[in-house]
Amino acid sequence: MGAGPGDPDLLTFRALRLMQSADVVVYDRLVSRPILDLVRLEAERIYAGKERAKHALPQEDINQLLVRLAKEGKRVVRLKGGDPFIFGRGGEEIDTLAAEGIPFQVVPGITAAAGCASYAGIPLTHRDFAQSVVFVTGHVQDGSMNLNWRALAQPGQTIVFYMGLLGVDILCSQLIAHGLSATTPAALIQQGTLPQQRVLAGDLASLPQLVREGGVKAPTLIIIGEVVRLRERLKWFEPAG
Ligand SMILES: C[S@@+](CC[C@H](N)C(=O)[O-])C[C@H]1O[C@@H](n2cnc3c(N)ncnc32)[C@H](O)[C@@H]1O
Repeated sequence: MGAGPGDPDLLTFRALRLMQSADVVVYDRLVSRPILDLVRLEAERIYAGKERAKHALPQEDINQLLVRLAKEGKRVVRLKGGDPFIFGRGGEEIDTLAAEGIPFQVVPGITAAAGCASYAGIPLTHRDFAQSVVFVTGHVQDGSMNLNWRALAQPGQTIVFYMGLLGVDILCSQLIAHGLSATTPAALIQQGTLPQQRVLAGDLASLPQLVREGGVKAPTLIIIGEVVRLRERLKWFEPAG
């Protein structure tokens, strides 16, 4: 089940209904406190959260845990940030359930790109500025990011990097090296849709330094493209503090 990017008002009705009839909820780190507070009071809560490099539970253990709980006859909710099928490993978890013959359903959620872009006043597509949008992982492995930079650095395209905080220097310099102008607008959204939301906006040349000086906290999403410029006029969510 997708819990959306953080604001509990962004849960779907189906998610809320199932959370309130669950026996057990297995949840990730990105599921916000106010959302967990909406889970049925009597339900057991199991933290399976993941943090960069330190995994509370290895993925295989999570898969097996879901199988075991379901075989005990419990109504199990596997609660994940955003959407389970977008950088959420939802496919792997239900694959194990399918192999064991356990019935399941998938509840979509508002993915971080949609939630953060809306709350930052950045339309991901726009007739005049962006005819396509790509969601890509900015996860750094062995000091680099193995991506098709040429395909990403296209005019008229918005790029959304999930998990890009540690790799912000790499991704900005690679996009410039593959043809995007250093003045291409770029923004980092921290804790999007939550009362603590912050947005750092600059361009490909300045974003790494803004991040270094900004005392940034995870989770963060990076949006690159001409549409970022629209934020100046379209921003509407400015939480206090
Ligand atoms: C493992 S991915 C999970 C994505 C999730 N399944 C989704 O659809 O949004 C985790 C990444 O999502 C992004 N993210 C999730 N929630 C966010 C939020 N409220 N604000 C900013 N970024 C967020 C961050 O880039 C974070 O590193």
